[in-house]
Amino acid sequence: MTEQLIEFLRNRKGFISGEQISRSLGITRAGIWKRVNVLRQRGYLIEAVPSKGYKLLFGPDIPTKEEIKAVFKGDIIGREIVFYRTTSSTNDRAMEMGQLRRSVLARQYQHSSQQRMEGLEGTVIVADAQEQGRGRFGRDWVSPPGVNLYFTVLLEPPFAPERASILTLMAAVAVVSAIREHVGLNAVIKWPNDILVGNKKVGGILTEMKSDQDRINFVAVGIGLNVNMPSSMLPGNVRPHATSLKEEKGEYINRVKLLGVILAKLEHWYKNILKGKKKALLNEWMRLDSTSGKKVRVKSRNRIISGKAEGISDDGELIVRLFTGVVEKVHAGEVTILKDR
Ligand code: BTN
Repeated sequence: MTEQLIEFLRNRKGFISGEQISRSLGITRAGIWKRVNVLRQRGYLIEAVPSKGYKLLFGPDIPTKEEIKAVFKGDIIGREIVFYRTTSSTNDRAMEMGQLRRSVLARQYQHSSQQRMEGLEGTVIVADAQEQGRGRFGRDWVSPPGVNLYFTVLLEPPFAPERASILTLMAAVAVVSAIREHVGLNAVIKWPNDILVGNKKVGGILTEMKSDQDRINFVAVGIGLNVNMPSSMLPGNVRPHATSLKEEKGEYINRVKLLGVILAKLEHWYKNILKGKKKALLNEWMRLDSTSGKKVRVKSRNRIISGKAEGISDDGELIVRLFTGVVEKVHAGEVTILKDR
């Protein structure tokens, strides 16, 4: 109900009387007052004048469900939004939710219950801070409160596990194009999941999946983006290689608005993927990519190869022409761009 109240106040320019709110939302005057105080505690500035009613003066830049819903409404992405002030990791929460839904479905099937549980497709789990933010290869993801974006999108795409990497590419395209258009910084993608500005990392994507042999159960696409974090908050060993949008742009960036733009882009590309239209996404990826044409060393699970990056396959694998001339496709790995000698 606080969510409806904030939306109601947000859609009105001037004061709105308690009576009108009460009639429209079906809550008592005391109920309104209670909720106004809850919102105030969450950082909203709401003016209350006895003869006039209520007026919203300011909403905080915290990616709560209410704030996100005010800037973005999707058909698939963000149908459900779950916000945590602090959690261990939004990917952990997403994987738990996905598992829980599967066990409920399994039980329903056992008892042939008619009751249907809403799908989790498109659920966005956001946190203001993470206590155990995770990056790829078991690395930590620095996740202090009040400054960055940490969120995970739960998807249930009807395709085989080997095709899941397209979702990481989709996330990278969404984030990089949102940064370019909304912030005006020349962000680029480094295959498969790094978001760079000026050769330094500002964001990353951690895609985790639960699948059967031939079908994906669910995928958690976790996105971390350093938005307003000062470099001083980064550990010394990471500092030379990482940055934030604010550090690069030199001005504060509204987190909620940026998240709204990213979610809108995810919605656009995901709908295309579901319709089987991948070409435009792959073209966009190529446009935003910084890996192609460069000499690279790619470390994958069991080997290291070196050669020239020549783009990506339709399934998102990196195409590398080895120095011997042989062309290889790499499904997952870590890329180092080699300097030309
Ligand atoms: C990487 O570049 O190594 C991937 C970083 C991914 C970080 C995000 S923050 C939201 C989500 N929750 C996590 O614990 N990790 C991802």
